[in-house]
Amino acid sequence: PRMTLQFSVNGSEQTIELSPTRRLLDILRLDLGLTGPKEGCGIGRCGACSVLVDGQSTPACLLLACLLQGRSVQTIEGLRNEPVFERVTAALVIASTLTAELRNNPAATAQELEQALHGSLCRCTGYTGLRQAVAELVK
Ligand code: FES
Repeated sequence: PRMTLQFSVNGSEQTIELSPTRRLLDILRLDLGLTGPKEGCGIGRCGACSVLVDGQSTPACLLLACLLQGRSVQTIEGLRNEPVFERVTAALVIASTLTAELRNNPAATAQELEQALHGSLCRCTGYTGLRQAVAELVK
């Protein structure tokens, strides 16, 4: 069965026909083209998919979209004008990913930590500073 969902995304009202089993993360990325939230762990641990639901940070990978009737979602795309947000978002995603990885594997190597960040990094820039941070963590 399909249902109709009405909710707000980055201040814009959306009406979507969907299967009740679809995740918010997939609706945002696949249906609405909002690719700021990333699929990392897929199990609510890494933060790569985080969005704000009624102002609260929430992992979109764990949330069924059908539960969002009448609610308000903000993705990173909708927060770009926040002065602080743009600069710290990448660092926060990276920090939360590294924290999760180190909790799971306290003896992780630099290579394993970089692998854990795979979903958070794009290819458009160098990551010298990040690699230095990773090297510090495994000392
Ligand atoms: Fe959702 Fe990691 S992909 S918390």
